[in-house]
Amino acid sequence: MKLNFALILSIIVAVGLVAFVFTVFQSSSEKESLVSELKARTGQIAKEFYSNNLAYIESNDTEKVRHFIDSVSIHYNLLGIAVYYNNDSVITSALAIRPYLANSTDYVSRAINADTTTESFFTYDKKRVYQFIRPVVRGNITSNAIIFYSDAQYIKNMINGIWLRNFVRWFIQALVISFVIIMIIRWGIFKPINKIVNWVHAARSGNVEFLKRKPPAGFLAPLHKEIVNITKAMHEAKAVAEEEARLRSQAESVWTPERLKVEMENLLNGKKMIVVSNREPYMHIHSGRDIQCIMPASGMITAMEPVLKACGGLWIASGTGDADKEMVDAKDKLKVPPEEPSYTLRRMWLTKEEEDHFYYGFSNEGLWPLCHIAHTRPTFRKIDWDYYKKVNEDFARAVIEETAGEDDPFVLIQDYHFALLPALIKKEKPNAKVALFWHIPWPNPESFGICPWQRDILTGMLGADLIGFHTQYHCNHFLETINSSLEARVLWENFSVNRAGHTTMVKPFPISIAFTLKDYDDGEGKKDPALLLSRHNISAEFMGIGVDRIDYTKGIVEKFLAIERFLEKNPAYQERFTFVQIGAPSRTLIKTYSDMVSEVEKEAERINWKFKSKNWKPILLLKHHHSHEEIAPFYSSANLCMVTSLHDGMNLVAKEFVAARSQSDGVLILSRFAGASQEMQGAIIVNPYDIEKTADAIKNALEMPLDEQQFRMKQMRHTIVGNNIYFWAARLLRTMAAIH
Ligand code: G6P
Repeated sequence: MKLNFALILSIIVAVGLVAFVFTVFQSSSEKESLVSELKARTGQIAKEFYSNNLAYIESNDTEKVRHFIDSVSIHYNLLGIAVYYNNDSVITSALAIRPYLANSTDYVSRAINADTTTESFFTYDKKRVYQFIRPVVRGNITSNAIIFYSDAQYIKNMINGIWLRNFVRWFIQALVISFVIIMIIRWGIFKPINKIVNWVHAARSGNVEFLKRKPPAGFLAPLHKEIVNITKAMHEAKAVAEEEARLRSQAESVWTPERLKVEMENLLNGKKMIVVSNREPYMHIHSGRDIQCIMPASGMITAMEPVLKACGGLWIASGTGDADKEMVDAKDKLKVPPEEPSYTLRRMWLTKEEEDHFYYGFSNEGLWPLCHIAHTRPTFRKIDWDYYKKVNEDFARAVIEETAGEDDPFVLIQDYHFALLPALIKKEKPNAKVALFWHIPWPNPESFGICPWQRDILTGMLGADLIGFHTQYHCNHFLETINSSLEARVLWENFSVNRAGHTTMVKPFPISIAFTLKDYDDGEGKKDPALLLSRHNISAEFMGIGVDRIDYTKGIVEKFLAIERFLEKNPAYQERFTFVQIGAPSRTLIKTYSDMVSEVEKEAERINWKFKSKNWKPILLLKHHHSHEEIAPFYSSANLCMVTSLHDGMNLVAKEFVAARSQSDGVLILSRFAGASQEMQGAIIVNPYDIEKTADAIKNALEMPLDEQQFRMKQMRHTIVGNNIYFWAARLLRTMAAIH
């Protein structure tokens, strides 16, 4: 408002000044020319009068003279003429001009004395009058001056008229200019400024969406573009700063291999730590003439290996590689990892029968389907059970052997293959601290109850001081199973079981991967899915990834059906989206598994046949074992990862994919039946049996705005960093150490 007023006032003053100067100039030049015109005209009249009519004046007939000068006055449109005689008498053309004489007397005597014409203006009765006085000099002179009075009032009127007109013009100009200025200010300045203020406000609050709405055309467009860019940059810088601050503050609490090592040394206090599992972390196999060392596809290995690598110790496992025997020493041991040995692996040799009945039979045809609700019937054979007991006893002996001379070693038993091991070890070494971590789900008591040897299994497990599951839900199921099948006291207030004077704690320890702040940003940006696919002769811009052992619990067929449905519902993605399924064949000597391999292949072929074109197919099935290094580019390039387990203890593929996304983009589609779904809240959670909704989840994932992808991915990455495998191990060992 102030600006309006000041601008208008300045304009009025400026326009007024210009108008005033112009009017002064115009009126004075107009006046000048009118006056000189009047003078010239009056002078001319006087001249003519003087040369032609002086004889009339010289006559002594007053009436005649008056009559004459009256007629001349009328003829020349003068106000009047006065004749001064040397006898001091004055004859005037009309009575009306008589009062003028008072203004003329001085000029008359000046004119006569100087013998020259004089002229002047005077005002009488508010009227301007011009007098022209001409002395008369002749031999027989009777008069000595003649005065011609002309009306000069019209000059004043004309000058006043000029002032008036210019004033009106100035007023109108000022009015119009002020109006235009107000409009210009309002539409040309205030409105854009208000817009800019709103943008800056949005920029300050990081509201990029608001800024992107209705971008302006015209002169504000470049400014708007800049503000949007600045806002984006500010927003990103702020996010980075927040992230850094958060990571800095988290750095003190994040668990690292080094920190775990120190913690372990304190907790173990010189005692030995032994890990027991069926699957070994490194397997040697013949490859032509060479021997190759591979890491088997196993969530348990993914989780446990970094712990041993960090802390050292002994790992006892079955040697199942065809070149395993060639690599061990006389005590069946070797140092691993091969590239940087840091712990000892002791291989146990299972006979073919033992492998058949203990591993394939009881463990994977009995307990595995028993614990996974995936609608595959468990098979229990007496002979399998006998071998299961035998192998458990063999491993127990190995542990006892390895801990000879140690009263209270720490023994960490992995998985369902060794349910009897805790009690067997405790029988020999009552002071040993024994923990059993069950990597797969635990079913409800009714489901578990179909196992003919459930009491033996539960009794064997309760030999442990600590039993860990991934989720509280599995712990509860286990405690309910104990409650309904054994004479034991379940203490729900601290989730423990007391049986025959021995207490077993039952706790959830959601397992994780080796993901620390060091790995948080590996500096490698997102890779190009199209490039990766082109290496497999597929041309597509979007890529999905799935990494599973080929197992009926993994929902691979359901995943393929969802991909098929997605492409049916969204034909626009045909020839643009390819799903890469890395499937490691597993337990193929079991019929349900070999059938599963064929079914997965058949489904992939059927769907590919239905949609494929010259350079594209919807599913790329890579059906062989892949190392972590081979899988990494798929994780980092994919637009989405699908984990569609029908039932899963945790599923570390979900966490590995998230850890690989250093740009915090990409989307995880995760089965609600995988333990990971409780932690990975940023995933799109699906029921893999619901093909329609899973198909829609693929579309949502591919079309999810980057902001939202990053929001979800960051949240999941934070979760994993905070709860990495080192934290998992530290918690487990602390809990073990605290048990008396
Ligand atoms: C699951 C089990 C692991 C096992 C893995 C691979 O993840 O929990 O203990 O190592 O499957 O199974 P495999 O039979 O190949 O050892």
